[in-house]
Amino acid sequence: MHKYQLIGPFAQILPMTHLHLKGAISDEALLIIEDGGILIENDKIHALGKFTEMLPTAKDLGAKITTLDGKDVCLPGFVDAHTHICFGGTRANDYAMRNAGKSYLEIAKSGGGIWDTVTQTRKASQTQLINLIIQRANRHLENGITTIEVKSGYGLSVKEELKMLYAIKEANQKLPADLIATCLAAHMVPKDYSGTSSDYLKEISTELFPKLKEEELCNRIDAFIEESAYTKDDIAPYFTKAKAMGFDITVHADQFSTSGSAVAIAFDAVSADHLEASTSKEIEALAKSNVIATALPGASLGLGCAFTPARELLDAGGALAIASDWNPGSAPMGDLLTQAAILGTFQKLSNAEVLAGITFRAALALNLKDRGKMEVGYLADLVTFPIHDYKEILYQQGSLKPNRVWKKGNLIMD
Ligand code: NIG
Ligand code: FE
Repeated sequence: MHKYQLIGPFAQILPMTHLHLKGAISDEALLIIEDGGILIENDKIHALGKFTEMLPTAKDLGAKITTLDGKDVCLPGFVDAHTHICFGGTRANDYAMRNAGKSYLEIAKSGGGIWDTVTQTRKASQTQLINLIIQRANRHLENGITTIEVKSGYGLSVKEELKMLYAIKEANQKLPADLIATCLAAHMVPKDYSGTSSDYLKEISTELFPKLKEEELCNRIDAFIEESAYTKDDIAPYFTKAKAMGFDITVHADQFSTSGSAVAIAFDAVSADHLEASTSKEIEALAKSNVIATALPGASLGLGCAFTPARELLDAGGALAIASDWNPGSAPMGDLLTQAAILGTFQKLSNAEVLAGITFRAALALNLKDRGKMEVGYLADLVTFPIHDYKEILYQQGSLKPNRVWKKGNLIMD
């Protein structure tokens, strides 16, 4: 590969630079570059500007020049900051039951729900899980998503959680996309565990946490805070231990009832995700904190529930990321762009707010400061759409697909 490459011209480049982490953003704040070019040095952004003005420098540097027809829009590669794509089986029955009027909790109590996926994921071999992750991640990659968070949480024992996290690590090595692993051993209290929920969490934190560090399996600890899973009292010693060991904290918060977001704030989590049940009180507290609020419209669509109050959060000065929550239960669709566009429609979000939610704000929800913008020195993760006006992307609500994707300067889809 050439050390330098210049790509362009593009009808529009949306560099997403100069935008703030927190608060509302108008489309006028996007500093769009027309007829632009992108100069890449190895895997990173080296310079942006007008393509024709960049040509002489690029030639001096011996850059490989990729000349396009000037009819595409280019954005930073998308980031999906919350998925559960390591799972076996399907929960199509849950979906049918739900649509027939049964509630999420009723379905869980009658043998469906998360535990059903735990059973099916435990039956899958590590190799089968690797292949399933690769299939799903490649679908995401074709949709322009170059960084994908992936949670464990369908193993629910030290051994089975490790199997999932090894599968995520190995899939990551085989894929161009970056997979960011998260340990969600605190997804629900395992039905086959003989001790109390506190005993289980203690076992995970003493036996699994050190292994996560030793084998570099993940640097993030998540928990589902809800009556049907873990209470804030259950989780306090678990998160205290995780923080002391240097893990980042993230929380499944305020999905059906409030309390999780307060825990996220108390533990200075990188993100609080879901928030469909948050009231103004929780939204204001989140907006004042450093915690990124991640809306998961795919779960609202999968469950037929309200959307996260994203507009209120941004107006209160909060940081909003948008993620797919792709999982077999509550969010089977797994189409981030469609979901983000729909959230924008229902919550009255600007194009800039939605796009920020799936680029740099999502990257920061994963504590990644090297992507999601075309800042000099940031990763050359890029996605292009075959249109001349960026507003078409969300307008077409996910039906317009990318025509090219670059990951770390490598063209991986054309
Ligand atoms: O993020 N809320 C808890 N966990 C997942 C659902 C997982 C499942 O139903 O399998 C979520 O929606
Ligand atoms: Fe989730």
